[in-house]
Amino acid sequence: MAHLLYSYRHIRQPSKTYTFTILEALAASGLRSIRYAKEIPNIKYIIANDLDLDAVDLINKNVEYNELSKDFVRANQGDACSVLYQHRSFPDRFDVIDLDPYGTAAPFIDGAVQAVEEGGLLCVTCTDLANLTGSNYPEKCYANYGSIPVKGEFCHEMALRILLHTLSTSAAKYRRRIIPLLCCSIDFYIRIFVRVVTSPVEVKNNPCKTSMLYVCTGCHSYYTQPLAKVTGKNTYVPMVGPIVNNSCEHCENKFHVGGPIWTHSIHDKQFVLRMLEHVKESNNETYQTHSRMLGMLSVIMEELDIPLFHNLSALAGTLHCTSPSLKTFCSAILNKGYKVSASHAMAGSVKTDAPMSVIWDIFRSWIQLHPVTMKNIKENSPARKILAIEPRFYYTSKC
Ligand SMILES: C[S@@+](CC[C@H](N)C(=O)[O-])C[C@H]1O[C@@H](n2cnc3c(N)ncnc32)[C@H](O)[C@@H]1O
Ligand SMILES: [Zn+2]
Repeated sequence: MAHLLYSYRHIRQPSKTYTFTILEALAASGLRSIRYAKEIPNIKYIIANDLDLDAVDLINKNVEYNELSKDFVRANQGDACSVLYQHRSFPDRFDVIDLDPYGTAAPFIDGAVQAVEEGGLLCVTCTDLANLTGSNYPEKCYANYGSIPVKGEFCHEMALRILLHTLSTSAAKYRRRIIPLLCCSIDFYIRIFVRVVTSPVEVKNNPCKTSMLYVCTGCHSYYTQPLAKVTGKNTYVPMVGPIVNNSCEHCENKFHVGGPIWTHSIHDKQFVLRMLEHVKESNNETYQTHSRMLGMLSVIMEELDIPLFHNLSALAGTLHCTSPSLKTFCSAILNKGYKVSASHAMAGSVKTDAPMSVIWDIFRSWIQLHPVTMKNIKENSPARKILAIEPRFYYTSKC
């Protein structure tokens, strides 16, 4: 993650040399703190903290082994929460706080949003994706994050947005807001990087950046609705809702209600661009995962700033048809005048501002050229309901 802190330093003090303090609150062997110490310039000191005494012994051994000073990488035994609460006020706060627990980071978030310096960087990992993606125990996700997950192809991005919701509401209690710089879904975990800034005026915008999520139980069409909006004179009012009918306009099934989730930006593209440039200047020797980082950051650079996404095979599965190629489908969306991109969170994803009516219409038109066997499709199924309507869009050779 040296490349990331490198970019962060660039934002913070473009001209002066700024020296950082870093807290790795759950450091285990201290391997990450040692990498920070060896790879990032301008660090004042790092606290590598762990609850476990054996881990702290190991941190000290690793510091010695790597010929680093114990004043530079300071091993500390303590409960991460206590350490965070002891550093809530200036000048004890940390420029960077890294939370990398087993499972959920939820118990450490309240302390972390207070103990990070003004404009500082919070790096948070969560590995409890079974809860965050709604695979099981939605009540557990609600207990930890104050949000209900709904099953869907977009679930890994939803997990990022649930964590951001928790961070933004936690920070808001202390008149602070979060500015997401980069939020990644990677393999079996999520990792997010946000700045934290005191800004009571911006905190008022939180309900406009936060939405409820409606997902049809039949065709899986999804909709987001912000919790509030601003009227003319800086007055915040609740939204009129829900945004959906009692049953789905496409397949007549009911909706699951999820959220609240963060629906504002999850990446700062200027920041991502600087990271990408830094990674491009590096090679496999600097970063062993160089090509993966390059790939992921390049996709993120192109990612539309629109919440959630569709999956082409899943949409085709709902209609029991063969799937158009990604290129064909995306061309059709562009042809209709909407934007489209991939999401880094899933291969074959389609992120678009096209409404569900357009998505289904494109599929109806595709099915006219690539018919489905209707006798295999159950009466009253979502496919029957959606395909009962004539398409208003027609695939052409240009699509
Ligand atoms: C996933 S490991 C950290 C891995 C480490 N960040 C790395 O990159 O190698 C989680 C660590 O958190 C520690 N831990 C668990 N609860 C803690 C707490 N309340 N305070 C501090 N450390 C804690 C565990 O002892 C364990 O070493
Ligand atoms: Zn539906």
